[in-house]
Amino acid sequence: MSSSTPKRIGILTAGGDSPGLNATIRGVGKTAIGYYGMELIGFRDGITGLVNNNYVPLDGKALSGILTIGGTILGTSRDKVHKIEVDGEPRDMVPAVVENYEKDGLDGLILIGGGGTAKNAKRLLDAGLNVLTLPKTIDNDIEGTDTSFGFATATEIATEAIDRVHSTAHSHHRIILTEIMGHRAGWLTLAAGVAGGADVILIPEIPYTVEKVAETIARRTAQGSSFSVIAVAEGARDVDDTADYEAAKLLVRAAKTPESARAAKAHLAHVEDSQREHTFRLARELEAASGLEARVTILGYVQRGGTPCAADRLLATRLGAAAADLVAQGEYGYMVAARGDGTEAVPLSEVAGKVKLVPTDHNWIEAARKVGTGFGD
Ligand code: F6P
Repeated sequence: MSSSTPKRIGILTAGGDSPGLNATIRGVGKTAIGYYGMELIGFRDGITGLVNNNYVPLDGKALSGILTIGGTILGTSRDKVHKIEVDGEPRDMVPAVVENYEKDGLDGLILIGGGGTAKNAKRLLDAGLNVLTLPKTIDNDIEGTDTSFGFATATEIATEAIDRVHSTAHSHHRIILTEIMGHRAGWLTLAAGVAGGADVILIPEIPYTVEKVAETIARRTAQGSSFSVIAVAEGARDVDDTADYEAAKLLVRAAKTPESARAAKAHLAHVEDSQREHTFRLARELEAASGLEARVTILGYVQRGGTPCAADRLLATRLGAAAADLVAQGEYGYMVAARGDGTEAVPLSEVAGKVKLVPTDHNWIEAARKVGTGFGD
């Protein structure tokens, strides 16, 4: 390419949406177009748009006014590029994506997403495409980065919810269990639980027993606080359920034939299904153990919706601009990670297929224990 030909890059958002996606598109786009004179196109609905070559040109006008808007102007999906359903059958669409990339005259492709997106990006990288990723998820579970955009906003939302259930729990002398997202990682529940002063925090990394949770509640009652607020991660499980889940996962990993893999996956799905209502079950068990009434609030998608907080806008802008810098330097195959106040290019091979869980000796946990928070262990 001659130096006068502007670089042409594609961008997409994939996986569950999260606050800060538009701020990131803007950060990449304004830097790429305004600072480096590149061209930018946006694929619609994540990997789906890439496979179907469904894109829109993104210019300064399209990027204007989106910093504060929730969701993603491009749409998203959870598609896996090597397993797209075509005529009822899963098909590997990596070759189709490579063809579209070449047809569109792209120099690079930026995928904004979480763990699943890193895996998709790695497949495209291995197929020879110039890819970069940017870390997005409210779960904060992406390996290799200090944090991901969406996490700070979701922490604010979940913290406010915990603050609000405090006064009603107190007024009615109830236990209120607030279930918080995070998939199989406890970051969001831990952060919001500590910030909101939850009396008990239950996260997947620390399997709990009902007895230990009930002990914390009984201690509070003895001290004159006849109410309790419990922050429960959607992935938190008691000791027995954790053992069942881990055993089912082991069976999937150990499966040697397609038949045994199918059976193991069906068993895992059954185990997951039977554990779905775990927060409600815990509420009933705590009512029986404590004699207090218990209520459950599932925060759900309010944690993912709406305008990003200032910290996420800042993170999205600086990571987005850093991604455009890498494109300008012709550097690909990385996730643009947040590292302290700066950014770091982390090879995608160190990110794809990994999950960042909360270390059980994390200082947020140690501080919470010191101020009397229970973890059900
Ligand atoms: O990964 C983000 C997340 O919000 C998780 O916290 C949650 O388990 C999941 O997505 C919900 O996904 P979906 O949008 O597919 O319902």
